[in-house]
Amino acid sequence: MNLEALLADRLATAFHAVDGVPVDPAVRASQHADFQSGAALALSRQVGRPPREIAQDAVARADLAGLATAAVSGPGFVNLTVADEVLAAGVEALDDRLGVPPVAKPERVVIDYSGPNVAKELQIGHLRSTIIGDALARIFDFLGHDVVRANHLGDWGTQFGMLIEHLVESGGDAAGESTLADLTTFYRAARQKFDGDDDFRDRARRRVVALQSGDEATRRMWRRLVALSERDFMTTYARLGVTLSAGDFVGESSYQDVLADVVAELDAKGLLTVSDGALCAFPPGFTGRDGEPLPLIVRKSDGGFGYPATDLAAVRHRTRDLAADRLLYVVGAPQRTHFRMVFAVARQAGWLTGDDVAEHIEFGAILGTDGKMLRTRAGENIRLSALLDEADARASSPAVGIGAIKYADLAADRRSDYVFDWDRMLASTGNTGPYLQYATARVGSVFRRTDTECGPVRLTEPAERRLALALLGFEPALTAAATLREPHRLAVHLHDLAVAFSGFYETCPILRAEAATRASRLTLADRTARTLRVGLALLGIDQPETM
Ligand code: ARG
Repeated sequence: MNLEALLADRLATAFHAVDGVPVDPAVRASQHADFQSGAALALSRQVGRPPREIAQDAVARADLAGLATAAVSGPGFVNLTVADEVLAAGVEALDDRLGVPPVAKPERVVIDYSGPNVAKELQIGHLRSTIIGDALARIFDFLGHDVVRANHLGDWGTQFGMLIEHLVESGGDAAGESTLADLTTFYRAARQKFDGDDDFRDRARRRVVALQSGDEATRRMWRRLVALSERDFMTTYARLGVTLSAGDFVGESSYQDVLADVVAELDAKGLLTVSDGALCAFPPGFTGRDGEPLPLIVRKSDGGFGYPATDLAAVRHRTRDLAADRLLYVVGAPQRTHFRMVFAVARQAGWLTGDDVAEHIEFGAILGTDGKMLRTRAGENIRLSALLDEADARASSPAVGIGAIKYADLAADRRSDYVFDWDRMLASTGNTGPYLQYATARVGSVFRRTDTECGPVRLTEPAERRLALALLGFEPALTAAATLREPHRLAVHLHDLAVAFSGFYETCPILRAEAATRASRLTLADRTARTLRVGLALLGIDQPETM
C-alpha cells in the first residue's frame, strides 16, 4: 500500500477542483501529522489567493472518507491523519511482497556494473559499482523486471602486451600456478619491466599486434590470464554476496569482432570525421575547455579501437540484439563525459531511441578518514581482498563485517563521496549495517520465545501507530529507490523502521500483554521482521540469526 500516492491522488482531485489548475499535492511524511501537503502555498502564487483559503477549499472538497482526516495548519498546509483502521488493515495485509505489486510493464533492463580489469586488483571504485549495481539489480528483479547483469570486464587493450610478454618470460604455457597465484604482483612485475626496459617494451608492443591478429599461442596465454582473473573476481563476489555469476562476464574482448562493423555503420550514417588521423565522432553540445568540439575517438590513428568504440558496440548489442528497454551503467562519476558522449552518438546512430533509455548511474569516491582518496598508508591502492580480510578480523562474523561495508556504501547518497571509517560503520548503534542486523535478530527473537499466533492489529499506543506508518512506508521507499536509482532511499527507510520498532519494543510489552493486544503486537513484530528481512536482502546484506 502506498499511502502517499493514495492521499496525493485524492488531494489532486480536490486541489484541481478549487481553481481549475492541476497541481502536484506533494504529499510527504511529516512531523506535524502523518502526512502533509504544501500544495496550497505553491498554488497561491499562481492564482493570487491566500494559501489558507485555498487549503480550506481543498479540504472541504477532498474525498477522504474512510481513509484520513484533513486539517489546515499554519500558513496553509494540509495536515493529513490516516485512519487507524486503514493503518491496521494495511499492516495485516503485508505479505512476502510487502504490498509491492510487480510492475505493470516489465522492462528488460541491462545493468552494467562491477566491470573490473583483468590482472588488476579490484579497485575501490569497482567496489562501489559492485555494491550499488548489485542492489539495483536485486531491486529491479523484485519489481518484476527482466534484469540482465552485464559485467563489462576490462579484458582487452594494450596492457595485455606486457602481461603476456612477461608470462612468456616466466615460462609461457609452462609457467606454474604459483607464478600467477597473485595477479597483482604479476601485473606490477610486468609494469616494472615495461617501464624500465626498452627491448621489453618493443616486444610487448609486438605482442599486442599478435593478440589482435589472433596468433594462437598469444591468445592461449591471454585466455589463461583472463580465466585466472575471472576466478579471482568470482571468489571476491562470493565473499561479498554479490549476485554476479560467471556467465555475466561480457568482456571488452567480446566486441572486438564487431567493432569494424560498428564503425562502418557510424560512418555510413555520416557521423564520423577524420581528425589527426583518428576517426572521431563529434556529438553536438560537447566542447573542451578551449571551446573546441570534443571528439569521441572511435578508431585511433594506429587503426586500433579503444574504450569508446567498445562501449558503442555494447550499446548497439544491448538494444538491438538483446532488445533491452533500458541500460543502466553503474560507473563512477569521472566517466561522466565518456558516457554522455557515447549515449549521444548512439542516439544519433539510432541505437538509443528516447533520451532516457541509457543512464549513467554515477557515484562519488570513497575517502579515508583524512578526507583524501582511500589508500594504504604507503599511498597504494587498497586491495579489496585485504579490505575484506580486515572486515572479517574486526567484526564478530563475516556477515557483520561485509554487511557493515555494504551498508555504509548503500546508506550514503550515491552521488556524494563518503568517508570509509571502520569504527563508524561497525558501530552497533546509529545508521549502520550491524544496527540493522541486530534489530532484525531482535525482532526474530520475539518469535523464538512464543508460540502465540499473530492476530488482528489494533493500534492504541502512539508507538504502535508510528511503527504501522513506518511499515507502510516500505513501498514508497522502494519505489523511490528504483525510480531514482538510489538504494539509500531503501537503506534509510529500513533504518527508520528499525528505530520505530525499537521505540515500540521499549514502550509496548508484547508477550506480557493480554491476549488480543499480544496478538496485535505480534503481527506488528512479524511484519517488521518480514520487512527488514526482505529489505536487507534487496540491499544484498546477510542477516545472522542471532547476534
Ligand atoms: N573497466 C572499466 C573501468 O575500470 C569499467 C567498465 C564500466 N562499464 C562500461 N560499459 N564501460 O573503468
